[in-house]
Amino acid sequence: MESPFKADILKGQVAFVTGGGSGIGFEISRQFGKHGASVAIMGRRRQVLDDAVSALQSEGIQAIGLDGDVRKREDASRVLEEAFKHFGKLDILVNGAAGNFLASPEDLSPNGLKTVLDIDSVGTFTMCHEALKYLKKGKGPSTGGLILNISATLHYTASWYQIHVSAAKAAVDSITRSLALEWGTDYDIRVNGIAPGPIQDTPGMRKLAPAEMQSDVSRDDRLLRKLGKTWDIAMAALYLASDAGKFVNGTTMIVDGGHWLSKPRY
Ligand code: HXC
Repeated sequence: MESPFKADILKGQVAFVTGGGSGIGFEISRQFGKHGASVAIMGRRRQVLDDAVSALQSEGIQAIGLDGDVRKREDASRVLEEAFKHFGKLDILVNGAAGNFLASPEDLSPNGLKTVLDIDSVGTFTMCHEALKYLKKGKGPSTGGLILNISATLHYTASWYQIHVSAAKAAVDSITRSLALEWGTDYDIRVNGIAPGPIQDTPGMRKLAPAEMQSDVSRDDRLLRKLGKTWDIAMAALYLASDAGKFVNGTTMIVDGGHWLSKPRY
């Protein structure tokens, strides 16, 4: 789909996207690139990164792939420094890296819960923490730099077999608000989140929803029943990253067609 935004809204900006090799993170990287940004993507799998960088470059986007694990502080520090050295600055950090699987609380070991908290929550904080010195110096479209944390809607209610991710994303939303307050005040850095609903063709959907449910829902035209597209999330990210979002700080924008509100009709 065509973007409704002008092609230069992120001109000259440098974005760093964790989990940028696939799914939502990839489409955010792609749309940021198509709107003028240079993009560094981070992930654990070299081949996935190489394929993603080739795809971005084939669309004329300046992109590099850096491998690392957000659970390792030394990786976070190294890849951010590499991106900064390569592009000369850093304006936007998108925390898209996440871990997930379905498990009942009974079958989930404490280490299973900790693993997802380590990736989603601690990993998000680690990246923010290590990126601060660059974002402080970054010149965003409006004021300071920008952080976007990819969340979820699972924890707004309660979701079966997702106790670990629900807890992890609740922490992410809280981190978003705290950093928005403190870094917004001290450094003019805006910190926001996006909470996607079920999104077609993502690793999350492939892992969490059975194939028949995915095709049933995607055939449904009703807003609250249909699946979103990675494009929908990338457009929200573009809005938040552009001047249009310059007064938005500390919010987590739900982009799910209203899905999380829905209850069965009696
Ligand atoms: C129960 C499990 C499990 C499963 C792992 N564990 N998979 N427990 N059911 N299916 C437990 C293990 O037993 C172990 O605990 C602990 O978790 C760590 O497992 P490892 O395999 O050693 O971890 P690791 O290799 O680091 O892999 C991390 C991972 C993996 C999260 C488990 O799935 C991963 O790397 N995922 C990244 C990609 C991904 O998930 N992308 C989708 C994101 S979707 P013990 O006690 O045995 O040591 C998303 C959408 C959210 O985030 C919103 C949805 C709407």
